[in-house]
Amino acid sequence: MTESTARPENKPPARLIVCVGPNCDAHGRGRALLAEVQATLSVAFPDALADGRLKIATRQCLRLCTRDPVVRLEPSGDAFSDPDVDELIRDISAALR
Ligand code: FES
Repeated sequence: MTESTARPENKPPARLIVCVGPNCDAHGRGRALLAEVQATLSVAFPDALADGRLKIATRQCLRLCTRDPVVRLEPSGDAFSDPDVDELIRDISAALR
């Protein structure tokens, strides 16, 4: 039986992409979500953010427009409209394992 060569340190970083495009940021909701996510994740995952295992990025449109702000978590590709930040924390925790 061959042992897996994938080592945890070779995992791609988790990246949370927050859309701040014209639909998501209508009435400032996309940027408000970005600020909430940045504040929450900096408390929940300070080490992962510092060492690059977790990144936060923005996009102008994820081509998933709804009436609410949209985020996408990579590498899973899971997307959420108007996400609950506590649920995002759970998903990010799983992605970092
Ligand atoms: S503007 Fe955010 S998904 Fe299109």
